[in-house]
Amino acid sequence: MRDMWNQPAVVATDCAGLGGKRQGKVRDIYDLGDCLLFIATDRISAFDVVLPEGIPGKGYVLTQLSKFWFDRLWRDGGVAPHHVRTMRPEDFPDACRPYIDTLAGRSMIVEKAEPLPVECIVRGYLAGSAWSEYRRAGTVCGQPLPPGLRESEPFPEPLFTPSTKAVEGHDENISIETMRGLIGEETAVRVQEASVTLYRRAAALAEERGIIIADTKFEFGRRRDTGQVIVIDELLTPDSSRFWPKDRYAPGQPQPSFDKQFVRDYLDAAGWNRTPPPPHLPDDVVTQTSAKYREALERFVGR
Ligand SMILES: Nc1ncnc2c1ncn2[C@@H]1O[C@H](COP(=O)(O)OP(=O)(O)OP(=O)(O)O)[C@@H](O)[C@H]1O
Ligand SMILES: [Mg+2]
Repeated sequence: MRDMWNQPAVVATDCAGLGGKRQGKVRDIYDLGDCLLFIATDRISAFDVVLPEGIPGKGYVLTQLSKFWFDRLWRDGGVAPHHVRTMRPEDFPDACRPYIDTLAGRSMIVEKAEPLPVECIVRGYLAGSAWSEYRRAGTVCGQPLPPGLRESEPFPEPLFTPSTKAVEGHDENISIETMRGLIGEETAVRVQEASVTLYRRAAALAEERGIIIADTKFEFGRRRDTGQVIVIDELLTPDSSRFWPKDRYAPGQPQPSFDKQFVRDYLDAAGWNRTPPPPHLPDDVVTQTSAKYREALERFVGR
């Protein structure tokens, strides 16, 4: 496999022979019939806006970390089936052959599902927007919490705080009641339980490797034939989670992290108003962000 770290960032793919391309903020997704070619590019978004520069190796990190978690968390049976069919380029459909150099390491073949219109967020620690709300109102996503918690402290129990899945713009937090209205009582209970179980298992495994998973987001979809609920999208990556190095954990303040907080801090310091067009990222910010993503991967899977 080519050296992902010293190559130019892959910000777009052009697999012309595959057709049916859909572009998310980070992923290029090709429709292969009953399955999807799911490619993580090196694009990075901040405040829901895609930035002009890519981060070399980022798509590789997202794919390899997702693979790590899909393998580990399903080793002894999963909480629900998941969407991955294969991550081995040699098992990709023949139509992918001409593009295999671009695809290897950053893509997978997944079952095509009907995504549920909610994001399933689990929070173990008081951080980010949850901290802002708690400080203001004593609640997190409307759920009351004991007084006196400090920034970055763990909750007594992990909190399930769903949000909408905005097609454009920002996701909005919703109550569990509202989620029930959107996806039905039974499915709501199922995805809440699955999310909290996945979070607990992952957090325990991460602790052993010196990482705190402060919070994370899961996505679920329905199988197109049976309607069964399955885990889709990426899993426990720096784009979907807050990872903190355990050896530097000190509550009462924000924590250093392995995600794009570094980029967000740069953008805020540069005075960007968080609406398009976004500013360019200087080379050293790109390089340091690439190193942070790489370190996140290596902490979990080794070199
Ligand atoms: N198995 C699947 N079947 C159908 N759609 C899927 C499947 N897995 C993931 N998706 C969808 O593919 C998209 C992934 O693309 P991407 O992550 O680039 O988009 P995004 O979520 O808009 O961006 P960001 O992650 O930055 O918020 C999401 O909309 C996700 O819901
Ligand atoms: Mg996404």
